[in-house]
Amino acid sequence: MAGNKVYRASTTAPVNIAVVKYWGKRDAKLNLPTNSSLSVTLSQADLRTLTTASCSASYSDGDSLMLNGEPSDISGARTQACFRELRARRAALEASNPSLPKLSTLPLKIVSENNFPTAAGLASSAAGFAALVQAIANLYELPDSPSELSLIARQGSGSACRSLFGGYVAWRMGDKEDGSDSMADLVAPASHWPNMRALILVVSAAKKGVSSTSGMQQTVATSGLFQQRIAQVVPANMDLMEQAIKAKDFAKFAEVTMRDSNSFHACCADTYPPIFYMNDVSRAAIRAVESINAKAGRTIAAYTFDAGPNCVVYYLEEDAPTVLGAFAGVLNGVSGWKEDSVSAQSGAKLEDGIA
Ligand code: DP6
Repeated sequence: MAGNKVYRASTTAPVNIAVVKYWGKRDAKLNLPTNSSLSVTLSQADLRTLTTASCSASYSDGDSLMLNGEPSDISGARTQACFRELRARRAALEASNPSLPKLSTLPLKIVSENNFPTAAGLASSAAGFAALVQAIANLYELPDSPSELSLIARQGSGSACRSLFGGYVAWRMGDKEDGSDSMADLVAPASHWPNMRALILVVSAAKKGVSSTSGMQQTVATSGLFQQRIAQVVPANMDLMEQAIKAKDFAKFAEVTMRDSNSFHACCADTYPPIFYMNDVSRAAIRAVESINAKAGRTIAAYTFDAGPNCVVYYLEEDAPTVLGAFAGVLNGVSGWKEDSVSAQSGAKLEDGIA
């Protein structure tokens, strides 16, 4: 009997920003993607979710989740899938080692907080589900590797499977029907290319109009361009991106990042009815990056946009004065920037792993 004892474990998980985007599900129930994707993990000093998981027989109201101080609904299929899979793994451990406390049957209490404003419009589901899965895995003392846990986090939110690692992370789409090979792995640790930096331009703090989940379903159902993206564009970009990262070739990394973001947003525009995530300020950011690269005479900055107008610019530490200086000039010089209240979260470093 576990009695009224409270068992507890905490963890943090980082935000990741894809440079080859996940967009499209081949199986919505298991959350299996139509293509592989690759992301860069941001520093936890700047953006992370801190989650504490506890369980106790004294939690009389059953499972619960608090998100940024507010009670959150846990009845959704995604959260339930994560709880179910983690409990099953703990139950298997308990079955093979009867001296372990029976935590798998106790109610869970999850408390989760972001260190960045949720209103900033930055994707938080990736860090959120990664932290939830890792915190419960720690609580249950599961021996599973980050790749094995990524199978569970994927079912919470696809992009979450890439937030169980630091550095440069690939989510391999897999081809098994049960999804048992659709998992993330480490392409390179952050220490491999430690001078990589990310500038986040918060173009709009508003919640996105079309959620990723429903937007990608509409694209899969209606876009012809999307078929070309998953058959040709993404497989080529995955190869090129892995080569660029291994060779620390920033110009190649940047070109693939920008082309892949363009391809993803072109598929959104090709969706019927069309989906527009970028706005005039986003497009001005693209022009600013082009002008930075043209002035430098080489590619020193790369833009990418997720399912919203906010811009992430990748650059190398040694080019920080040029890139940040140019953006400061643009932010001050163009009236549209001021009107759209752009705020910059600058210089996020990359780092390894989950704390
Ligand atoms: C544009 O991971 O939020 O950020 O699996 O439905 O939860 P669900 O989708 P989600 O989609 C992220 C889409 C993206 C690209 C990416 O992160 O790869």
